[in-house]
Amino acid sequence: MKCELKELGWSEELDSGLKDIDRQHQYLLKLLRDMSENTEIPGNSELFSHLLVEFNEAVLRHFDFEEALLAKLGYQYLEEHQQQHEKILQQLADVSMTAVFNSKEAPKEFINALCEWFEQHLSEEDTLYFQTLNTSIIQG
Ligand SMILES: [Fe+2]
Ligand SMILES: [Fe+2]
Repeated sequence: MKCELKELGWSEELDSGLKDIDRQHQYLLKLLRDMSENTEIPGNSELFSHLLVEFNEAVLRHFDFEEALLAKLGYQYLEEHQQQHEKILQQLADVSMTAVFNSKEAPKEFINALCEWFEQHLSEEDTLYFQTLNTSIIQG
C-alpha cells in the first residue's frame, strides 16, 4: 500500500471534537507533507533533518497529551492505545538515520513508511476514542 501524502489532508472523520487534539494532528500531517516535499531537492537535507527532529518531538508531545487525556476520560482501551503509540515510537527509533540520509531513495521510503503508520493510527485507532471524548464533552 502506498501512502498518498498529497491526500494526507484533513477530513471530517478526523475531527476529534477537541481543538487541541485536532491542532496537534493537523500539525503532524503538515510536517509529514513538508518532509515529503523536501526529500528530492539537493541541499535540502538540513531542512529535512530539521523537520524530522521536529516531527519526532511533536509526536512525543502529542502521544503524552493524548494518553493523559484518555486516562482522564477513563478510556477503556487506554492500555491498547499506549501500546499502539509505543509501537510507532519503536518503528521511528528503529529507522537508521544514516541510511535515510545516505541514500537517494531512502528518504522517500522512510516518509512513505511514516505516512502509513501515522495514517493508520489516526484514521483507525485514534478515531475509536473520539466517541468517548465527545460523550464526555457533551456531559461536561
Ligand atoms: Fe493516538
Ligand atoms: Fe493522535
